[in-house]
Amino acid sequence: MSCGVCAGCEISGLSLQTGAVTTSPMDIVRTVDELRKDVRRARSAGRNIALVPTMGALHAGHISLIEAAKKTGAFVVVSIYVNPTQFGPSEDFTYYPRAFESDCSACRGAAVDLVFAPTDAEMYPSNDQTCVRPGPLADTLCGPFRPGHFEGVCTVVAKLFNMALPDVAYFGQKDAQQARIIQRMVEDLRFPIRIEVCPTIREADGLALSSRNERLSEVDRKQAVLLSRALCEAKRRLQSGESSTGRIIAAMRGVIAEHAEIKVDYLSIVDPLTLAEVAVPTATVMVAGAVRVGQTRLIDNMIVDIPPARS
Ligand code: PAJ
Repeated sequence: MSCGVCAGCEISGLSLQTGAVTTSPMDIVRTVDELRKDVRRARSAGRNIALVPTMGALHAGHISLIEAAKKTGAFVVVSIYVNPTQFGPSEDFTYYPRAFESDCSACRGAAVDLVFAPTDAEMYPSNDQTCVRPGPLADTLCGPFRPGHFEGVCTVVAKLFNMALPDVAYFGQKDAQQARIIQRMVEDLRFPIRIEVCPTIREADGLALSSRNERLSEVDRKQAVLLSRALCEAKRRLQSGESSTGRIIAAMRGVIAEHAEIKVDYLSIVDPLTLAEVAVPTATVMVAGAVRVGQTRLIDNMIVDIPPARS
């Protein structure tokens, strides 16, 4: 049976033949019943269950989460679902990159045990009416620019947790606010799940990998790197004793102003746990930013330890 999304795959139980070598059998399932059956079987074979939630268009950042999960010996489930409820009406849901066939191939290459690619009807049945609304952690940074985004994220991740019943779930520091909100959701709603947050994987020039990068034109790509350069400038200033957040943020804007076409949504220095703006940086802070380059919105952040002499 074909999955209806990609040519040439067997959706349930059989390996996807993608041309090269077919290694271990990797199930690709679309329903919660199939997912739970596989998860139950793995659990009764003594395996822990690790979930890596994704929206597909997989890159080395996603693979780093899968590798972290694989290292533990867990049965690794990767979910691939472009979640409509986390996109605003004027956002890029329609144009979000979709690459199911090569994603399955990448998962197979990373020895994933199971790909869960639910249909919309499986994730949001027509009579669905419950969602998960995060608290004030969602009101800072990206929150005001993407109303409803984190509610969509929390709702789909809570559903994925209840569907896959993992022991541990992996998220990227690249989306630091998302990771923090999910950690808080897990605490507040008492999910018996450990959250692991893995480091941001970057291109050689510093640009954080993102599925959206593939939509950057050659000109956009040259501009996009300025976001990570601005974060590095803030880090350098913080570590050399600069204490005026106003001056640091002005310096970051100066880096980005190299290309007048880049639009800044925000550049902020926040507490990494509360995500509240920091007036006087002491101990550890997170420098975070979001910019628009052409049609593409990019986010990035860096955690900065302030030298002990100043804390
Ligand atoms: P997506 O953007 O596909 O990202 C899936 C996971 O990969 C997230 O935890 C994200 O932080 C991580 N990731 C992305 N780029 C990374 C990089 N350069 N280095 C390390 N990790 C990186 O985030 C989502 O999907 C969705 O919001 C989701 C959680 C799946 C809910 O729909």
